[in-house]
This record gives sequence, C-alpha cells and structure tokens, in this order.
Amino acid sequence: MTAGGTRVSSEVDHVTELLHTRAELARARAVLTGTVGVVMTMGALHEGHETLLRAARERADHVIVTIFVNPLQFGPNEDFDRYPRTLEADLEVCRRAGADLVFAPSVADMYPGGEPAVRVNPGPLGEDLEGLSRPGFFHGVLTVVLKLLQLTRADLTFFGEKDYQQVTLVRRMCRDLDIPVEVVGVPTVREPDGLALSSRNRYLSGAERQVALSLSRALRAGAEAAEAGRDAAAVLTAAHVAFGAGQSGARLDYLVLTDPDLEPGPVRGPARLLVAAWVGGTRLIDNAPLRLDPSS
Ligand code: PAF
Repeated sequence: MTAGGTRVSSEVDHVTELLHTRAELARARAVLTGTVGVVMTMGALHEGHETLLRAARERADHVIVTIFVNPLQFGPNEDFDRYPRTLEADLEVCRRAGADLVFAPSVADMYPGGEPAVRVNPGPLGEDLEGLSRPGFFHGVLTVVLKLLQLTRADLTFFGEKDYQQVTLVRRMCRDLDIPVEVVGVPTVREPDGLALSSRNRYLSGAERQVALSLSRALRAGAEAAEAGRDAAAVLTAAHVAFGAGQSGARLDYLVLTDPDLEPGPVRGPARLLVAAWVGGTRLIDNAPLRLDPSS
C-alpha cells in the first residue's frame, strides 16, 4: 500500500496504484512532481483506451486513469445498469500501459451531495448531434470532466477522437472557462475491417457487427469523394449511398459534414464527417477528418 491506495501490480520499476476515494487520490496526487496527464474513462477498456494511455505516457511524467460510469450522462432509457464493469481486466490494461494511478470512485464519492444541482452548460453545440438524441448528455459529461480535472489537477488530458463532439466540447469548456489544461485529441483506433473500437461494440451480435460496418463504410466513401475533388453535397451523397440506408439494417440518426470545430456555416477545406446510427439496440457513432477542395 502507498498513499492509502492499493498496489495492484508491481514490476521491477513500475507500480500502478488503485485509489477508490477522493481522499486517497488527494494524498497520492500531492506527492507527484512534474507533469500529470489524465485519461478519463468509464472502464471496459480496449485497445483504443490503451492508445490514449500510451499517448499520455509519452507526454506526461505521471499518468492517472479514471474509471467511473457517470450516471449523470445516461438518460432514463439508456444502458447505465448494463454498461460493462470490468475493473480487474481494466487494471491489467492500465498496468500494461504504465499508468501510475487508477482512480475508480463510487457514485457516492464522486457526488457526495447527491446529484449536483449546478452543472456545466455545454451551450448550443451540446444540444446538437449527440445532444439531440441524448438530452442532458453533455451537461453530464462536462460536469464530470470538470470535477475530474479539479480532483486530479492534471496538466494534460487525453480524449479519443471517436467521440469527436465530446473532445470538441471539452476543448471549448477549457477555453471558455479558463481551465489550465492541455486537451489532446487522439485518433480513433479501428479493427482491420474499419469498425471503430468502442466499449459498446461488445453489445453487438456477430450479425450486428457486420451491419455496424456501414458507419465506417460511409465515412470511407465520403473521404474518397472528397479526395476526388467532389463538393460537400456530393461527398454527403456518396456517404449516404455507402451507408445503404434502408438496406444495411442500421437505422441512421445523423450523417453530417461540418467544419472541424463543429461550428455552423459553410464547409470548405478541412472538414469532419460524422455519423450516428442504431444497430439493433446499440447506438454507435463514428467520424473522420477529410479535406474539401476549397474551390469545389
Ligand atoms: O468518453 C467517456 O468514456 C466519458 O464520456 C467520460 C469522458 C469518461 C466522462 O464520463
């Protein structure tokens, strides 16, 4: 045991320490010198998270991983209860990737006063795209992200670009509220067939996993059309055709082409193509960067 936490693994030169309470975290954080990077997760860690941890390991002197399934960001009919909780396996991933501290608090420890009455308002972007289908989602995400930034006092924080609207809003929150942390976006990790890694992929049956490929197929078709010099409308059409609405078995929520900061207005030059769809009972999202010919 060190600083009140549990030593979960020990190699010759590395120890990963598991902390459950904010008091344990505060004690362990107090003795860290140099830069601290935090990777926030809801657990069910996969190779995508491992890539985030390795990015953090490269940039920061110390790496903290948080594992917390945040009830604030789940709607009443969403998967909070069945969201996978796999702490032992997650700790193994953290150990392998060289995390120093793993903070896995209970709901009572994160929200000691019950559901917070004061929450971060994500602004208009929080009501669009994911926010349209999941009211209150980004209020919950940004509130817990801000709390975890305060508790870890991190210098850098690492977010996967798979949740592109999330990393965009975290950046904007840090800028708008003067939160002194560098937000680092890390590119999406994919299976060889293109499926973006996600903790929710484990809900998919074999057949649904095949259907889920329609998301990355749509993004690839859009990117190819952009590379061929097609304009925004043609890029979107190519993506829709490749998605195969009505035939693929996936139910499209949105497929949009926007500017890289998700600002409204015409899209020229660098852009982002974003897609969300239901595959059976599972909602999946994906996105890709592309570049439109400014003269198209
Ligand atoms: O992306 C996630 O896993 C969650 O939204 C986050 C950032 C850990 C906040 O709960």
